[in-house]
Amino acid sequence: MTIPPAALEELRRRARNAAAHAHAPYSRFRVGAAVLTDVGVHAGANVENASYGLSVCAERNAIFHAIAEGARRVDAICVYTPTRAPVTPCGACLQVLREFAADALVLCCTDDAAAERRYQLSELLPAAFRLES
Ligand code: THU
Repeated sequence: MTIPPAALEELRRRARNAAAHAHAPYSRFRVGAAVLTDVGVHAGANVENASYGLSVCAERNAIFHAIAEGARRVDAICVYTPTRAPVTPCGACLQVLREFAADALVLCCTDDAAAERRYQLSELLPAAFRLES
């Protein structure tokens, strides 16, 4: 699926804005994510907790936000970090993404456009768990 450049630009902008709202007092690692879905674009930030294991990544929060707004298909996700190199979503977030995407574009970006990396979900998580026999 080809995502129009304007939609990619909106994803980058929404992910970057969401990172500004991250609750990351423990790691100080701010992450923002935005998903392009069948009902539009939704964003999320990482939300940490004093009980560290309860922290949730930006990607899952963006997906869950979209689901709560009625989305059932994710076509693309953008993850933004204010770092030198872009980060890819963690394994847990990839598995959650797979629940709503047969395959999806995964855009990993920073403030440096030249550093941006693009993947397909199927290359980052080629053997996702499925409840199919
Ligand atoms: N984090 C994300 O939100 N997304 C990622 O792709 C990697 C890690 C968060 C979790 C935690 O709040 C902080 O970054 C440090 O791991």
